[in-house]
Amino acid sequence: MTTNLTGFTKGAVVRHQQWTENEFSITVKADIGDYLAGQFTKLALKDENGNWLRRAYSFVNSPNHHLGKNQMEFLIIDVPDGDLSPKLAHLAIGDEIYVGEKPSGFMTLNEIPDPVSDLWLLSTGTAIGPFLSLLAENETKTRFKNLVLVHAVRTRQELVYQERIVNLQAEYNGKLIYLPIVSREKHHDILSGRIPELLQDGRLIAAVKLSANTESSFFYLCGNPAMVHDTRDMLLALGFKKHLRRSSGHFSFENYW
Ligand SMILES: Cc1cc2nc3c(=O)[nH]c(=O)nc-3n(C[C@H](O)[C@H](O)[C@H](O)COP(=O)(O)OP(=O)(O)OC[C@H]3O[C@@H](n4cnc5c(N)ncnc54)[C@H](O)[C@@H]3O)c2cc1C
Ligand SMILES: NC(=O)c1ccc[n+]([C@@H]2O[C@H](COP(=O)([O-])OP(=O)(O)OC[C@H]3O[C@@H](n4cnc5c(N)ncnc54)[C@H](OP(=O)(O)O)[C@@H]3O)[C@@H](O)[C@H]2O)c1
Repeated sequence: MTTNLTGFTKGAVVRHQQWTENEFSITVKADIGDYLAGQFTKLALKDENGNWLRRAYSFVNSPNHHLGKNQMEFLIIDVPDGDLSPKLAHLAIGDEIYVGEKPSGFMTLNEIPDPVSDLWLLSTGTAIGPFLSLLAENETKTRFKNLVLVHAVRTRQELVYQERIVNLQAEYNGKLIYLPIVSREKHHDILSGRIPELLQDGRLIAAVKLSANTESSFFYLCGNPAMVHDTRDMLLALGFKKHLRRSSGHFSFENYW
């Protein structure tokens, strides 16, 4: 419990978009420090006892977007029995919110080793956010030969940001492959299952029509820690190596909890 809040600045909600009953995006305006596409900051609100609740949230926007870096978009799920996310879900336009002044995170373009030509972005749930941020960067559009955006969710209605993804695909001129996956429904036009199993049995590779290899491929994994764990094991079994700054490899990850 804490009644002090240092390193945060006061901002305001300027947009709220509801995607499903418990998933939404908010745009917040606040004067914060510089950040890179793929990074996150913290959002904070007071609870009923006057204690600050603070959690990490990834930027969905690129810092270079037309609204400027101080307008930040976040994709959030209202976790039942969660402390902060249900409060964020109730924010309306004009409401106050506190934003961490110093964003951080290593899931950025400058952490990807140089010879990579194919970038694979594997996400569950709200973790598609930082990948949309990365994909909005001009550098991403020019630097890579192929990009694969995988979004694994429980149900079709959680396949958010469809319009933005269609626009990105047009901007990428055929280089961006989008692969939605659902786990708790069956649809004739959407792959069904979970990322690690679909990688193991070859269905994911078959669906994107692009093979991965240790010379040209790099993977970012983000979201549910169980997915990250199982996918990491799968990639290791396939001969890929975890990337470290001191020893170049083929994948990195960010766990959301
Ligand atoms: C680097 C980083 C970036 C993050 N970015 C985002 C983001 O962009 N959007 C977002 O919604 N959350 C994000 N999170 C998670 C976020 O920080 C909070 O943990 C989440 O909002 C729940 O907070 P809470 O206080 O409501 O729940 P808590 O009381 O803290 O409950 C946590 C539990 O909620 C579940 N949970 C937490 N986050 C998620 C999630 N994203 N999807 C599904 N289940 C979840 C897990 O079961 C977890 O154990 C991020 C976390 C990290 C570490
Ligand atoms: N999504 C909803 O409809 C819904 C509704 C009400 C409340 N909630 C709450 O929201 C939170 C969950 O949000 P979420 O659905 O975005 O996140 P999630 O539970 O992380 O699910 C996202 C995707 O990750 C998959 N996944 C889970 N474990 C995995 C593993 N080991 N390997 C590979 N993939 C794995 C899930 O598959 P599986 O489906 O097979 O687990 C699902 O496709 C929970 O607190 C939940 O109670 C969600």
